[in-house]
Amino acid sequence: MPRMTDEADWSRAADPARRIGRSVEFHPEIGSTNDRARATLAEPDGEGLAVVADAQTAGRGRRGRGWLSPPGVNLMVSVALRPRVQPELSSLLGLAAALAVRDACAAVAPSAGLAIRWPNDLVDRDGLKVAGILIETVLANGRLVEAVIGIGINANWSPDEMPAEIAERATSLMSLTGGPIDRPALLGRLLTALDGEIQALERGQGPIRRARAASWLEGRDVEIDLGGHTVAGHVAGLVDDGSLLVDTAEGRIALAIGEVVRVMDPAPVGVSQ
Ligand code: BTN
Repeated sequence: MPRMTDEADWSRAADPARRIGRSVEFHPEIGSTNDRARATLAEPDGEGLAVVADAQTAGRGRRGRGWLSPPGVNLMVSVALRPRVQPELSSLLGLAAALAVRDACAAVAPSAGLAIRWPNDLVDRDGLKVAGILIETVLANGRLVEAVIGIGINANWSPDEMPAEIAERATSLMSLTGGPIDRPALLGRLLTALDGEIQALERGQGPIRRARAASWLEGRDVEIDLGGHTVAGHVAGLVDDGSLLVDTAEGRIALAIGEVVRVMDPAPVGVSQ
């Protein structure tokens, strides 16, 4: 008899052979999985524990925003690491995580044209956001000593049930595939991919070549918010350190941080889920 999948059995995603996701800790509700993951670094064997929640009361997005997700629908997970990454490669952690998210989601939705929108959003071919990543790091003497990788994937969230301002710029794997997503199975794929990406980064094999091939922004005309002001230009590619190369009216610039707030073709994008 085939084994019925159990949506509540998150331990299906654990694999003792991995460093990341050796085990999984599930919370029906938590403040932020990133905070809990960070705290696990103080515990024996806490590194790499996958902290999953069905609901977050204080979910965080990038640039100080919140992360909205109805309970029991999407995949929200964080892992904390003491990465053994050479300082010059530490800025690539976000792209490594984005490639892992893309691998896992593309296995579920292979024809959705999933791609990475710099710095590390996962979007479908139309630029609708499927997943976001929040990396929180601690640096000491120029070295990355702690990193929390927090990932939110829109799994079983119907666009009909999204608030209007999110529905206009986001989608979900269920909507892209037309069927329900087995979240623990998705998590298992994600943790395997993330474990592989981090190992590669630690070996000095950064993700930049594959990130270039997976970049959604390549060749598009964009506006990018740099905090105080916005620059407009044509995306020329990614620099080896993960910065975005943009040709502007004033010349070529490399942006280490920023937020794409508008894409001229095919459609404007919002600033967050
Ligand atoms: C973004 O696109 O702005 C990043 C969103 C990251 C959301 C995830 S959900 C799991 C983890 N816990 C958090 O509080 N945030 C991340």
